[in-house]
Amino acid sequence: MKTRAALVYETNQQWDLGKQFWKIEELEIAPLGPDDVLVHLPYSGVCHTDLHPLTGDLPPAMLPMIGGHEGAGVVEDVGSRVGHVQPGDHVVISILPACGHCRYCRRGRPTLCDMSAIVMGGRHPDGEFRYTNSQQQAAGQWSLVGSFAEYVVVNSQAAVKIPEHLPLDVASMVGCAVTTGFGAAVDKAGVGVGDSVVVWGCGGVGLSAVQGAALAGAAEVIAVDTNDFKLEVARSFGATATFNPNVDRSPNPNRDEAAEKVMEYTNWQGVDVALLCVDYVTPELTGAAFATLGKGGKLVIVGVTHPKFTSIAVSGLEVTFWEKEIVGCSYGGGNPTLDMPRNLRMYEKGQLKLDEMITKRYPLESVNEAFDDLLNGQIVKGVIEF
Ligand SMILES: NC(=O)c1ccc[n+]([C@@H]2O[C@H](COP(=O)([O-])OP(=O)(O)OC[C@H]3O[C@@H](n4cnc5c(N)ncnc54)[C@H](O)[C@@H]3O)[C@@H](O)[C@H]2O)c1
Ligand SMILES: [Zn+2]
Ligand SMILES: [Zn+2]
Repeated sequence: MKTRAALVYETNQQWDLGKQFWKIEELEIAPLGPDDVLVHLPYSGVCHTDLHPLTGDLPPAMLPMIGGHEGAGVVEDVGSRVGHVQPGDHVVISILPACGHCRYCRRGRPTLCDMSAIVMGGRHPDGEFRYTNSQQQAAGQWSLVGSFAEYVVVNSQAAVKIPEHLPLDVASMVGCAVTTGFGAAVDKAGVGVGDSVVVWGCGGVGLSAVQGAALAGAAEVIAVDTNDFKLEVARSFGATATFNPNVDRSPNPNRDEAAEKVMEYTNWQGVDVALLCVDYVTPELTGAAFATLGKGGKLVIVGVTHPKFTSIAVSGLEVTFWEKEIVGCSYGGGNPTLDMPRNLRMYEKGQLKLDEMITKRYPLESVNEAFDDLLNGQIVKGVIEF
């Protein structure tokens, strides 16, 4: 069986607008293994994490790699050992399938499952690849999804069944950005009624965090972005204040502009929760976000940094005596197989605004344009239509 797909062949590249980094090719799909699920995707979301193998911020374990990891679709076929889904079922694909047996799964931390090491390798747990190009080269699957392919072969643990009446374009974004950002605010940070929250970076992930914080009852939801269009969307999703560090200049050149505004807005108390959802997390920004925390505050790092950054400057005294915390957050930090259906139920009830996050749709052939638009700040979420 064959499928069209978009692949990347090189890493450590800088994205240049107009350059065709993604190559569209026809790939051969291997026969299904016993634990495989073949899913037909009508859509794939476009997430900033798809750029990291290309830039080397998250170095790819192998090349070529099929891009994309936000997928939801219809099960076409299943392997001999698969029992929980069958052809015709609708599924969201989890980017972090959990084995259920390792130390972390047993401790109730499925986003830390030992299977994640396999996932980042781009090959299936049996050590094999499922796709080959016309030169007989094996192609990996980013996050073991590779949703820039119309037909994806995923491990059965990654197929999360959802009700059939839900729109699959929205469900595809629940496969990553929504579950990550909403979970970061609600599950990992544990935002509560009356809290003050700042979200740095309002892309697909950050805007889901803004919605999570607002729905959890935060009194102040401060959105920070260098792009006014994103801030406008943030306000429509419940942000009570927005700051653009390029516009809201501080009179003090030694302070981070947005951090200064956040402190002013909170009456110099600082926030209970800071969520760092920018696309490229630098030590400087992390230090500035940490400084905006009030006593007992929590900084949740969601965005991806570069392996070259190895230190962050924070006040150790504030960590000790003000009990300020810095925590990481992978895929929302909760239990994705429970959280994804929860997020979709909240969408159905009109609480989570997900249709409003899709700015533009692209055919697979225009996947490079979708990333140009993402990096130009013209879209919140792009969706590939097959
Ligand atoms: N932890 C996880 O499990 C997980 C999952 C998905 C995505 N991510 C990461 O989260 C990050 C965000 O992803 P996304 O798809 O929302 O990206 P995106 O490109 O859609 O959004 C990033 C936003 O940050 C803004 N920004 C950049 N620099 C800024 C600054 N200095 N101050 C304020 N705003 C700034 C941009 O204008 C943009 O709106 C990426 O690094 C992505 O790889 C992590
Ligand atoms: Zn596990
Ligand atoms: Zn993602």
